[in-house]
Amino acid sequence: MNFFVLSCLLFLGHSIPVSYKEQCTCSKFSTETTCMEQVNCIWSNQICQDRSCTQFYNKDKCNSVSHCSWNVSTCSEFTKCSDYYMNDPYDCYKIGNQDLNLFCMPTENGNYCKDYELAPCGNFQDDCIGFQTQWGLCYWYNDTCNVVDIRYCDTLLNEDLCFIFGEGLGCQWKDNKCQMITCSDFTSESTCVLMRQNFIEDSPLLCMWDGVKCMEAQDVSHLDFSNCLVNSFYNYIWDSTKGVCVACKDYTPPSTQTP
Ligand SMILES: *[C@@H]1O[C@H](CO)[C@@H](O)[C@H](O)[C@H]1NC(C)=O
Ligand SMILES: *[C@@H]1O[C@H](CO)[C@@H](O)[C@H](O)[C@H]1NC(C)=O
Repeated sequence: MNFFVLSCLLFLGHSIPVSYKEQCTCSKFSTETTCMEQVNCIWSNQICQDRSCTQFYNKDKCNSVSHCSWNVSTCSEFTKCSDYYMNDPYDCYKIGNQDLNLFCMPTENGNYCKDYELAPCGNFQDDCIGFQTQWGLCYWYNDTCNVVDIRYCDTLLNEDLCFIFGEGLGCQWKDNKCQMITCSDFTSESTCVLMRQNFIEDSPLLCMWDGVKCMEAQDVSHLDFSNCLVNSFYNYIWDSTKGVCVACKDYTPPSTQTP
Protein backbone atom coordinates (compact mmCIF):
# COMPACT_ATOMS: atom_id res chain seq x y z
CA MET A 1 0.00 0.00 0.00
CA ASN A 2 1.53 3.31 -0.98
CA PHE A 3 1.71 6.30 1.29
CA PHE A 4 -1.03 8.21 -0.50
CA VAL A 5 -3.61 5.47 -0.08
CA LEU A 6 -2.58 5.03 3.52
CA SER A 7 -2.96 8.70 4.34
CA CYS A 8 -6.39 8.74 2.72
CA LEU A 9 -7.48 5.90 4.95
CA LEU A 10 -6.16 7.68 8.01
CA PHE A 11 -8.14 10.75 7.09
CA LEU A 12 -11.32 8.87 6.39
CA GLY A 13 -14.21 10.36 8.29
CA HIS A 14 -12.43 13.59 9.10
CA SER A 15 -12.76 16.97 7.54
CA ILE A 16 -9.69 18.49 5.96
CA PRO A 17 -8.35 21.57 7.72
CA VAL A 18 -5.86 23.61 5.75
CA SER A 19 -3.68 26.49 6.86
CA TYR A 20 -1.36 29.28 5.81
CA LYS A 21 1.55 27.46 7.40
CA GLU A 22 1.09 24.43 5.13
CA GLN A 23 0.92 26.35 1.87
CA CYS A 24 3.36 25.27 -0.84
CA THR A 25 6.62 27.17 -0.74
CA CYS A 26 8.02 28.59 -3.99
CA SER A 27 10.60 25.79 -4.20
CA LYS A 28 7.77 23.31 -4.97
CA PHE A 29 7.11 24.89 -8.37
CA SER A 30 9.42 23.37 -10.92
CA THR A 31 8.52 25.26 -14.09
CA GLU A 32 8.73 28.93 -14.92
CA THR A 33 5.02 29.01 -15.80
CA THR A 34 3.75 27.53 -12.55
CA CYS A 35 6.25 29.61 -10.58
CA MET A 36 5.20 32.90 -12.14
CA GLU A 37 1.54 32.13 -11.45
CA GLN A 38 2.33 32.48 -7.73
CA VAL A 39 2.19 36.07 -6.52
CA ASN A 40 4.93 35.57 -3.93
CA CYS A 41 7.40 33.71 -6.14
CA ILE A 42 9.90 34.71 -8.78
CA TRP A 43 11.75 32.58 -11.37
CA SER A 44 15.44 33.18 -11.25
CA ASN A 45 18.53 31.09 -12.07
CA GLN A 46 16.24 28.28 -13.26
CA ILE A 47 14.61 27.89 -9.85
CA CYS A 48 11.50 29.22 -8.23
CA GLN A 49 12.36 31.48 -5.31
CA ASP A 50 10.53 33.60 -2.75
CA ARG A 51 9.99 37.12 -4.00
CA SER A 52 11.68 39.62 -1.71
CA CYS A 53 9.86 42.84 -0.77
CA THR A 54 11.89 44.89 -3.25
CA GLN A 55 10.73 42.60 -6.08
CA PHE A 56 7.11 43.75 -5.79
CA TYR A 57 6.19 46.57 -8.13
CA ASN A 58 2.54 46.99 -7.21
CA LYS A 59 1.27 48.69 -4.04
CA ASP A 60 -1.49 46.23 -3.20
CA LYS A 61 0.60 43.13 -3.86
CA CYS A 62 3.38 44.61 -1.75
CA ASN A 63 1.12 45.45 1.20
CA SER A 64 -0.56 42.05 1.03
CA VAL A 65 2.72 40.41 2.08
CA SER A 66 2.72 40.45 5.89
CA HIS A 67 6.17 42.04 6.35
CA CYS A 68 6.44 44.21 3.24
CA SER A 69 5.20 47.80 2.95
CA TRP A 70 4.84 50.23 0.09
CA ASN A 71 6.44 53.67 0.41
CA VAL A 72 5.88 56.34 -2.27
CA SER A 73 6.94 54.22 -5.25
CA THR A 74 8.81 51.22 -3.93
CA CYS A 75 8.24 48.16 -1.83
CA SER A 76 10.55 47.19 1.01
CA GLU A 77 10.75 45.33 4.31
CA PHE A 78 8.63 47.20 6.89
CA THR A 79 10.77 49.30 9.25
CA LYS A 80 8.74 51.57 11.53
CA CYS A 81 5.59 53.63 10.96
CA SER A 82 7.27 57.05 11.17
CA ASP A 83 9.58 56.14 8.25
CA TYR A 84 6.66 56.14 5.82
CA TYR A 85 5.44 59.00 3.68
CA MET A 86 1.99 58.62 2.09
CA ASN A 87 0.46 60.67 -0.70
CA ASP A 88 -2.87 59.40 0.58
CA PRO A 89 -2.70 59.38 4.43
CA TYR A 90 -5.31 56.59 4.52
CA ASP A 91 -2.60 54.27 3.11
CA CYS A 92 -0.96 54.35 6.55
CA TYR A 93 -3.62 51.83 7.63
CA LYS A 94 -2.40 49.40 4.95
CA ILE A 95 1.21 49.08 6.02
CA GLY A 96 2.93 47.38 8.94
CA ASN A 97 4.23 43.96 9.86
CA GLN A 98 1.40 41.56 10.54
CA ASP A 99 3.81 38.90 11.83
CA LEU A 100 4.88 41.27 14.60
CA ASN A 101 1.44 42.86 15.13
CA LEU A 102 2.76 46.26 14.08
CA PHE A 103 0.20 48.53 12.46
CA CYS A 104 0.20 52.20 11.53
CA MET A 105 -2.22 55.09 11.23
CA PRO A 106 -2.03 58.58 9.73
CA THR A 107 -0.69 61.50 11.74
CA GLU A 108 -3.17 64.34 12.37
CA ASN A 109 -1.50 66.54 9.81
CA GLY A 110 1.10 65.75 7.24
CA ASN A 111 1.68 62.61 5.28
CA TYR A 112 3.88 60.60 7.60
CA CYS A 113 2.44 57.65 9.48
CA LYS A 114 2.65 56.85 13.19
CA ASP A 115 2.21 53.73 15.31
CA TYR A 116 -1.37 52.62 15.65
CA GLU A 117 -2.69 53.86 18.96
CA LEU A 118 -5.02 51.64 20.92
CA ALA A 119 -7.34 53.61 23.18
CA PRO A 120 -10.14 52.53 25.50
CA CYS A 121 -13.61 52.94 23.99
CA GLY A 122 -15.40 56.03 25.28
CA ASN A 123 -18.90 56.09 26.69
CA PHE A 124 -20.41 58.48 24.19
CA GLN A 125 -21.01 58.22 20.49
CA ASP A 126 -18.26 60.71 19.63
CA ASP A 127 -15.50 58.84 21.43
CA CYS A 128 -16.76 55.34 20.72
CA ILE A 129 -14.25 54.93 17.87
CA GLY A 130 -11.13 53.03 16.89
CA PHE A 131 -9.76 49.90 18.46
CA GLN A 132 -9.45 49.25 22.18
CA THR A 133 -7.34 46.13 21.64
CA GLN A 134 -5.90 44.59 18.50
CA TRP A 135 -9.19 42.89 17.62
CA GLY A 136 -11.55 44.93 19.81
CA LEU A 137 -13.42 47.52 17.77
CA CYS A 138 -15.35 50.28 19.57
CA TYR A 139 -18.76 50.40 17.92
CA TRP A 140 -21.78 52.54 18.76
CA TYR A 141 -24.93 50.46 18.53
CA ASN A 142 -28.27 50.44 20.30
CA ASP A 143 -27.39 53.61 22.22
CA THR A 144 -24.30 52.13 23.86
CA CYS A 145 -20.63 51.75 23.06
CA ASN A 146 -19.89 48.09 22.34
CA VAL A 147 -16.51 46.37 22.06
CA VAL A 148 -16.80 44.04 19.10
CA ASP A 149 -14.32 41.21 18.59
CA ILE A 150 -13.92 41.37 14.82
CA ARG A 151 -12.47 37.85 14.59
CA TYR A 152 -15.76 36.04 15.03
CA CYS A 153 -18.91 36.11 12.93
CA ASP A 154 -21.25 35.72 15.89
CA THR A 155 -19.92 38.82 17.66
CA LEU A 156 -20.63 41.10 14.69
CA LEU A 157 -23.73 42.91 15.91
CA ASN A 158 -25.54 43.93 12.77
CA GLU A 159 -25.68 43.47 9.04
CA ASP A 160 -23.22 46.29 8.33
CA LEU A 161 -20.50 44.87 10.57
CA CYS A 162 -21.22 41.37 9.34
CA PHE A 163 -20.59 42.57 5.83
CA ILE A 164 -17.52 44.76 6.48
CA PHE A 165 -15.54 42.46 8.75
CA GLY A 166 -17.26 39.26 7.74
CA GLU A 167 -16.08 39.17 4.19
CA GLY A 168 -12.60 37.94 5.05
CA LEU A 169 -13.95 35.62 7.71
CA GLY A 170 -16.65 34.00 5.61
CA CYS A 171 -19.63 35.34 7.53
CA GLN A 172 -23.16 35.85 6.27
CA TRP A 173 -26.21 37.65 7.60
CA LYS A 174 -28.83 34.95 7.96
CA ASP A 175 -31.88 34.49 10.20
CA ASN A 176 -31.27 37.96 11.58
CA LYS A 177 -27.79 37.20 12.87
CA CYS A 178 -24.24 37.07 11.64
CA GLN A 179 -23.15 33.48 11.13
CA MET A 180 -20.37 31.47 9.57
CA ILE A 181 -20.86 30.40 5.96
CA THR A 182 -20.67 26.60 6.04
CA CYS A 183 -20.04 24.27 3.10
CA SER A 184 -23.76 23.46 2.86
CA ASP A 185 -24.54 27.15 2.30
CA PHE A 186 -22.80 27.08 -1.08
CA THR A 187 -25.24 26.26 -3.84
CA SER A 188 -22.97 25.95 -6.87
CA GLU A 189 -19.93 23.90 -7.70
CA SER A 190 -17.79 26.98 -8.39
CA THR A 191 -18.31 28.53 -4.95
CA CYS A 192 -18.07 25.21 -3.08
CA VAL A 193 -14.38 25.42 -2.15
CA LEU A 194 -13.54 26.52 1.34
CA MET A 195 -15.23 27.10 4.68
CA ARG A 196 -13.45 29.58 6.93
CA GLN A 197 -13.56 29.00 10.68
CA ASN A 198 -12.28 32.25 12.01
CA PHE A 199 -9.59 34.74 11.37
CA ILE A 200 -7.06 33.88 14.01
CA GLU A 201 -7.24 30.13 14.24
CA ASP A 202 -6.44 29.93 10.56
CA SER A 203 -7.80 26.52 9.72
CA PRO A 204 -10.41 26.70 7.00
CA LEU A 205 -11.99 23.41 5.96
CA LEU A 206 -12.21 22.12 2.40
CA CYS A 207 -15.62 21.71 0.82
CA MET A 208 -16.56 19.46 -2.09
CA TRP A 209 -19.44 19.30 -4.56
CA ASP A 210 -21.08 15.88 -4.66
CA GLY A 211 -22.98 16.56 -7.87
CA VAL A 212 -26.03 18.01 -6.13
CA LYS A 213 -24.90 19.80 -3.00
CA CYS A 214 -21.85 21.14 -1.23
CA MET A 215 -20.43 19.32 1.78
CA GLU A 216 -17.28 19.09 3.88
CA ALA A 217 -14.56 17.17 2.06
CA GLN A 218 -13.14 14.04 3.70
CA ASP A 219 -10.11 13.89 1.42
CA VAL A 220 -8.77 15.61 -1.69
CA SER A 221 -9.82 12.99 -4.24
CA HIS A 222 -12.32 15.43 -5.77
CA LEU A 223 -9.46 17.70 -6.89
CA ASP A 224 -7.70 17.29 -10.23
CA PHE A 225 -4.71 18.84 -12.01
CA SER A 226 -6.66 22.00 -12.80
CA ASN A 227 -7.81 22.88 -9.27
CA CYS A 228 -5.70 20.87 -6.80
CA LEU A 229 -3.55 23.84 -5.79
CA VAL A 230 -6.03 26.70 -5.84
CA ASN A 231 -9.00 24.83 -4.34
CA SER A 232 -6.92 23.38 -1.51
CA PHE A 233 -5.91 26.79 -0.14
CA TYR A 234 -2.49 26.11 -1.71
CA ASN A 235 -1.92 23.26 0.75
CA TYR A 236 -1.86 20.54 -1.95
CA ILE A 237 -0.17 20.39 -5.32
CA TRP A 238 -0.70 18.25 -8.41
CA ASP A 239 1.98 15.58 -8.77
CA SER A 240 1.92 14.98 -12.52
CA THR A 241 4.23 11.97 -12.30
CA LYS A 242 1.86 10.11 -10.00
CA GLY A 243 -1.31 11.82 -11.25
CA VAL A 244 -2.53 12.71 -7.76
CA CYS A 245 -3.13 15.75 -5.63
CA VAL A 246 -0.64 15.56 -2.74
CA ALA A 247 0.10 17.64 0.36
CA CYS A 248 2.86 20.17 -0.35
CA LYS A 249 4.89 18.89 2.56
CA ASP A 250 4.96 15.39 1.03
CA TYR A 251 5.79 16.57 -2.47
CA THR A 252 9.23 16.60 -4.06
CA PRO A 253 9.29 18.51 -7.34
CA PRO A 254 11.08 16.87 -10.29
CA SER A 255 14.61 18.24 -10.56
CA THR A 256 14.86 20.90 -13.25
CA GLN A 257 16.84 20.10 -16.37
CA THR A 258 19.61 22.58 -16.95
CA PRO A 259 20.15 23.00 -20.67
C1 LIG B 1 9.75 56.71 2.42
O1 LIG B 1 9.80 57.80 1.55
C2 LIG B 1 10.16 59.02 2.18
C3 LIG B 1 10.02 60.14 1.15
O2 LIG B 1 10.73 59.84 -0.02
C4 LIG B 1 11.57 58.89 2.74
O3 LIG B 1 11.95 60.07 3.39
C5 LIG B 1 11.61 57.72 3.72
O4 LIG B 1 12.92 57.51 4.19
C6 LIG B 1 11.10 56.46 3.05
N1 LIG B 1 10.98 55.39 4.06
C7 LIG B 1 11.40 54.15 3.89
C8 LIG B 1 11.13 53.19 4.99
O5 LIG B 1 11.96 53.78 2.88
C1 LIG C 1 -30.89 47.21 22.96
O1 LIG C 1 -30.87 47.59 24.31
C2 LIG C 1 -32.02 47.21 25.06
C3 LIG C 1 -31.93 47.84 26.45
O2 LIG C 1 -30.65 47.58 27.02
C4 LIG C 1 -32.10 45.69 25.10
O3 LIG C 1 -33.24 45.26 25.82
C5 LIG C 1 -32.17 45.17 23.67
O4 LIG C 1 -32.14 43.75 23.67
C6 LIG C 1 -31.01 45.70 22.85
N1 LIG C 1 -31.19 45.32 21.47
C7 LIG C 1 -30.27 44.69 20.74
C8 LIG C 1 -30.66 44.37 19.35
O5 LIG C 1 -29.16 44.42 21.18
